[in-house]
Amino acid sequence: MSPKRPLVSLFVILASLTSCFGYHIEDPLYQTNAYERYPMHDWRFDKPRYEPFGFMTRANRATPRSSRPHGTVSVDDFGAKADGRDDTQAFEKAWKQACSTGAFLVVPENRIYLLKPITFSGPCQPNTAFMIQGTIKAWPVMSAYEQDRLHWIVFDSVSDFKVDGGGTFNGNGKIWWQNSCKTNTNLPCKDGPTAVTFNECNNLRVENLRFKDAQQMHVTFQRCFNVFVSNLVVKAPGDSPNTDGIHVSETHDIQISNSDIGTGDDCISIVSGSHNVRVTDITCGPGHGISIGSLGADNSEAEVSNVVVNRATLRGTSNGVRIKTWQGGHGYARNIKFLNIVMQNVTNPIIIDQYYCDQEVACKEQVSGVQLSKVMYQNIRGSSASEVAIRFECSKSVPCREIYVKDVILEEEGGSGGTIATCQNVRYVNRGNFYPQCSPSTK
Ligand SMILES: *[C@@H]1O[C@H](CO)[C@@H](O)[C@H](O)[C@H]1NC(C)=O
Repeated sequence: MSPKRPLVSLFVILASLTSCFGYHIEDPLYQTNAYERYPMHDWRFDKPRYEPFGFMTRANRATPRSSRPHGTVSVDDFGAKADGRDDTQAFEKAWKQACSTGAFLVVPENRIYLLKPITFSGPCQPNTAFMIQGTIKAWPVMSAYEQDRLHWIVFDSVSDFKVDGGGTFNGNGKIWWQNSCKTNTNLPCKDGPTAVTFNECNNLRVENLRFKDAQQMHVTFQRCFNVFVSNLVVKAPGDSPNTDGIHVSETHDIQISNSDIGTGDDCISIVSGSHNVRVTDITCGPGHGISIGSLGADNSEAEVSNVVVNRATLRGTSNGVRIKTWQGGHGYARNIKFLNIVMQNVTNPIIIDQYYCDQEVACKEQVSGVQLSKVMYQNIRGSSASEVAIRFECSKSVPCREIYVKDVILEEEGGSGGTIATCQNVRYVNRGNFYPQCSPSTK
């Protein structure tokens, strides 16, 4: 951050104050390092006390965006028609131009452009942007994805880049859902495309966008660093298979805030190689909740640390906050905080499942597992759709360590009966209110 401007210093002081009020726990163990790249944005989530990596991006030093000269390129200038035919080539040409000059690539509003699978590759000139105001819709014929079934739109190796503009990515996923083995059990299980993938992107902002009806996952960040995601609306039917909202993989320093997600799978899923992940102000439902994992599939190594989920509301989801690992994995997930969360009629509001097994044949007992430690649940309230409101099903071979529970109250939806907690292979510390509690015999 610039030390030169006194106004900025004032903001830093204000920001430190608000962040103190925003967080009930100031436990150095649990501090995450995700922070804002552009110093003038939303201060509420900043922790500007130290910069963990000591790097200075071009954007940190850049002058305010409004005073920066910028070229603008419209996809229509390159022949995009938005007439129900394939506009992929026009987008490819427009991207080439925008990327090589650091321009804003505009996708005009009130128009629907159909695209086949496409990769927007970097590196680009800094501050290139993709301003999507209209709608980009996926080509609905599955054979167009033969070369690479896993991706529709890919942003690859772009840095100092943003996607913004208020428009929509529509994955047009119905045909993929109908051909999923989860919908039609006679069909073989094959992966389908992620609607939008960011691969190896640094200093990235993704803001003010809608993602709709993805073929499978809606938006994935993989091997990215320093990412700010905000104001997304992600929607797909509750019964659309494997349509995760936001998926984070092998990504460091990512903040996801102010977003409304409702899909047929996890609203947010955070998997191995992800560190310093901050998720704030999320509404989730329908869907499978906010998940860390699954981790350790096929005896793999997993590493996840410093994750904070703060201020979320989950409505009618099958899980609330979940950590799921397969038996037989290695590695760890640690320093994870779930804070200030409201559950409304959630089937498994708090769940650690170290016996996760999402396959047809039953999983065999294995002696290793991903070690879970330093997981905090604080100020989590609301209602459970099932009797078991808290399920700590930790690994027999690597029991959960240092689980903290504070001010957690989960009652049965409708209020007729009580809730229970089932707890295996877990040591926890609790303070304040805690209901339902593990019964002594299961602790
Ligand atoms: C709560 O969830 C259950 C199962 O998901 C559902 O059957 C029930 O209608 C929901 N209740 C309310 C009040 O929404």
